[in-house]
Amino acid sequence: MLLADIRALADSDMKAVNALIQEQVSSDVALINQLGFYIINSGGKRIRPLITVLAAKAAGAESNEHHTLAAIIEFIHTSTLLHDDVVDESTMRRGRETANALFGNQASVLVGDFLYSRSFQMMVDLNSMRVMQVLSDATNRIAQGEVQQLMNCNDPETTEESYFDVIYGKTARLFEAGTELAAALACDNESIITALQQYGKYLGTAFQLADDIMDYSADSEDMGKNVGDDLAEGKPTLPLLYAMWHADDANKALIRSAIEHADGSEHLDTILAVMRDTGALEYTQQKADEAAQSAIDALTPLADTAYKSALIALANIAANRTS
Ligand code: IPE
Ligand code: IPE
Ligand code: MG
Ligand code: MG
Ligand code: MG
Repeated sequence: MLLADIRALADSDMKAVNALIQEQVSSDVALINQLGFYIINSGGKRIRPLITVLAAKAAGAESNEHHTLAAIIEFIHTSTLLHDDVVDESTMRRGRETANALFGNQASVLVGDFLYSRSFQMMVDLNSMRVMQVLSDATNRIAQGEVQQLMNCNDPETTEESYFDVIYGKTARLFEAGTELAAALACDNESIITALQQYGKYLGTAFQLADDIMDYSADSEDMGKNVGDDLAEGKPTLPLLYAMWHADDANKALIRSAIEHADGSEHLDTILAVMRDTGALEYTQQKADEAAQSAIDALTPLADTAYKSALIALANIAANRTS
């Protein structure tokens, strides 16, 4: 199944989700409307709401509660992006200027807070303690992941274990919350709920591994973000760590310094060559493929439906994406 087929399968649900997103972004405050509209309509892939909708359908959803859930997940994602681009000092997202570049850091942080708290107002609408519990835990874990990453930044001693812990927190946890709650709203079979929760967790991991590969290998235009941002920040992602671990002494020292002093951009060509020689991107890709396979394996208890097939196809797409 291709991404276009998957999107077609979820089209009517996603139209409803998008209508909710548009409705909920509005406010009486002009700057919120302006910046909120800018970020919400800037061409995000809407992959988290898509997966949430598919998970709900795969679990036999009959009501439309998953539309609200999917909109909530996209609001949380959007607010973390507004904050993330300030923290990462990024200037390009979704093929255009970041909100912080256009409106400034202060407006980005504050409108991020608006979207974040709006997501909690929407959660209350679902009137489910499980929704409140899972999403309050998930948002707390996301914040923790971003802070852990801040601590790892410029630290060449960062371990693979610590890297995986960070990407679980900052990215996979939200996918996991979306698929778990989609299933929990749709059915009360705990083995199906756990299966979809695990699926979301592994898919989110594959998704972030692919993001970290793209930061060294993609085309800025395809990706809609600046390539090389992670290196410029001295962010110890798996491709860079692996290259350092397997390089000769001179290149080991070069990468160590690039992480410590965030001056790697000057040596980008050398570092890319070390990545090629050590197979760093292949190694990271292998980890992404393994995570995608774990996501697919987790779906075993689900009945065979078009929605399950779509989830299986999406796992491979997430791990091998170039945008
Ligand atoms: C970007 O997420 C942040 C990461 C977790 C890598 P997406 O790649 O889903 O961003 P949009 O919403 O499609 O722009
Ligand atoms: C994603 O990490 C962070 C969050 C989702 C909070 P990145 O910093 O790698 O995301 P991009 O590359 O800017 O989209
Ligand atoms: Mg970033
Ligand atoms: Mg970041
Ligand atoms: Mg990134």
